[in-house]
Amino acid sequence: MSDSIIGAAVSRIDGPDKLTGRARYAGDFQPEGMVYAYGVYSTIARGRITGIDTTLAMRSPGVIDIFHHGRFPRLHRSPGTFAEENVVDEKRTPFEDDRIHYMGQFVALVVAETYEQARAAAYKVRVDYERDAQRAAATLAQGIEDNGVEHANDSERGDPAGAYDGAAYRVDAVYTTPVETHNPMETHATVAEWVDGRLRVFDSTQGVIFTRNTLSRVFDLDPSQVEVHADFIGSGFGGKLWVWPHCVATCAAAREVGRPVQFVLPRQQMFTTVGHRPETRQHVRLGADDDGRLLSIRHETINSSSPVGTVVEACGGSTQGLYACDNLRISHATAITNRGTPTAMRAPGAGVGLFALESAMDELAAELGIDPLELRRRNFTAHDQGADKPYSSNHLLECYDRAAEAFGWSRRTPEVGSMRDGDRILGWGMAACNWEAMRNPCDARVALRADGTASIHCASQDIGTGTYTILAQIASHELGLPLESIHVTLGDSTFPHGPISGGSWATATLLPAVAEASRAAIKKLKNYARNAASPLAGARGDSLVYDSGRLSDDSGRSATVAEILGAQSLANAVGEAHTGGAPDSGYSFDSFGVHFVEVAWEPEIAHLEVTRVVSAIDAGAIINAKSARNQVEGAVVMGLGSALLETTEYDERNARPVNSNYAEYLVPVNADMPDLDVILLDHPDYELNEFGARGIGEIGLTGMQAAVANAVYHATGRRVRDLPIMLDKLI
Ligand code: MOS
Repeated sequence: MSDSIIGAAVSRIDGPDKLTGRARYAGDFQPEGMVYAYGVYSTIARGRITGIDTTLAMRSPGVIDIFHHGRFPRLHRSPGTFAEENVVDEKRTPFEDDRIHYMGQFVALVVAETYEQARAAAYKVRVDYERDAQRAAATLAQGIEDNGVEHANDSERGDPAGAYDGAAYRVDAVYTTPVETHNPMETHATVAEWVDGRLRVFDSTQGVIFTRNTLSRVFDLDPSQVEVHADFIGSGFGGKLWVWPHCVATCAAAREVGRPVQFVLPRQQMFTTVGHRPETRQHVRLGADDDGRLLSIRHETINSSSPVGTVVEACGGSTQGLYACDNLRISHATAITNRGTPTAMRAPGAGVGLFALESAMDELAAELGIDPLELRRRNFTAHDQGADKPYSSNHLLECYDRAAEAFGWSRRTPEVGSMRDGDRILGWGMAACNWEAMRNPCDARVALRADGTASIHCASQDIGTGTYTILAQIASHELGLPLESIHVTLGDSTFPHGPISGGSWATATLLPAVAEASRAAIKKLKNYARNAASPLAGARGDSLVYDSGRLSDDSGRSATVAEILGAQSLANAVGEAHTGGAPDSGYSFDSFGVHFVEVAWEPEIAHLEVTRVVSAIDAGAIINAKSARNQVEGAVVMGLGSALLETTEYDERNARPVNSNYAEYLVPVNADMPDLDVILLDHPDYELNEFGARGIGEIGLTGMQAAVANAVYHATGRRVRDLPIMLDKLI
């Protein structure tokens, strides 16, 4: 058992709890006396509040209190640094002053006995505004025009301009990507209660520790006075990494009214006050020699940001080191728009950055008359020139081989519109994927228990990706106990310090800590085994051998965990561990992959369909073949949405997101699903951790939009450089 459990296609251990409704999400916690909050949101995007009249609303049934900038406690802005595990993207605290910076900003919070009463009263709050004389910048273009561009960072090697000028083949193109909005099934939700000056919060968060630290700063409390719980999360996609105003407002309101308060964000407000992937404009210039070797890469990005906090979308991050190229320039800049702050959304940076780079590579292949896959092979590098270090483990070439074989790429004919399936024109395109592999420090606690089971405790959380399950697998492997005997408890900030569920680093971070804590628990058990009351009393320490819940010594004696602990009336043998971040071993840690996409195009009826996707992913060792595949499949589906459907549209007259609902914000549905084939390479990367795992949440999204766009070009001859690829761009 212990050898096969790692890598096995184990079903989620929390699956039955989720399916039967036993799993409790933030909104399911209802402390005694809990009341409900509903927000009032600005209806202008730029200006100030001139008056708030709550008279009518206060008379509405069930209303307890209404908070706004004239009636709210003073809070502290969080300094928001990653090093302090404390990040906020919107720097303002709620209701800080009368300024309005974006449409949908919180201007008041109604607290009432029921949700319906709070909502009804919220509509009766009258807010008067004065618009600024200057218009609100609704789009990146307007933001650049009105507010200019602020440089964020750049890096350069060699002589990119000179090398470009001397290159035989060139591409010079601008790519744009729209605002995308996180739409996890579960909207943001906070339940806050104050007990004896301590703040206890049930929150839909990707980081219980970060949320605890942020709230402790905002409310000027010691972190030990704040408790954050997140047993189950209906996903987040980055939108739930950091604390947003609704959470702070709920905690403050609970203290003011002296009762627990629940605030579940309506879907519409997912589009205004809790982040989004910013709009980007990316200028890519490539220069290559006659053989297609890259002589120069320039990738210059401007993204939309906000007046209440600057967020940089690092589109050039992957461009630094994906291909061999001595002359390179990357730059990032922002322009202020009147939108809430953007934030990280699944694969921030590379997620849309590779749309530009990998589209440009396809354009270069067409210029050169070289097969796009062959062009990428010729520019492969095992050395990360961005960091000037070798990659710890890079199997991109094998990804190319295996996915191309499975897809049948060698049968591709290069001419546009040259491949057919009956009346349908087929287009075949491909693009590479890339994501940095990270690891952070972590603590964990593992206990061998007197009933023969084991428990794991860590202040991390499972956002739906399978974290509960892989931790049980690791402990099962280390302790030689069946999976059913391992109880994993996460989502509690009072547990040993664990990572956020973000950046695809939870797996690489958590596994070593849980393994080490398991071994520490065995060591503790061995100490107990030598005590007088133990069946193995007097055994020499180094003679004890642990195997599958049992200790043996060299005199032939043997006893189970239950017998050893039971004889001494001990409840458990507890092991704790602290493991470090990514080792400084002289390597760059990255995951790689490739997507091949087939589209079918019927020009007579203007119908485009993605019919096949084959992806090969090199993400180190695969810990759970089932949940890993789920992650890549989900990312591919999200990538299809990003390529073809997703866009948050802002009305240029008033900066309002107009499609702020599930009906008009389009995401792929079952009817859009192509045949998906995910190949997981499973080559352990032991430089990063003892299990060789690099994490797999984000890599599968990168490159997808370019693979689709390149397939669309091959079918239609239309080079769509502006996402999403809606039909108006094809006819
Ligand atoms: Mo991811 S954008 O780090 O949740």
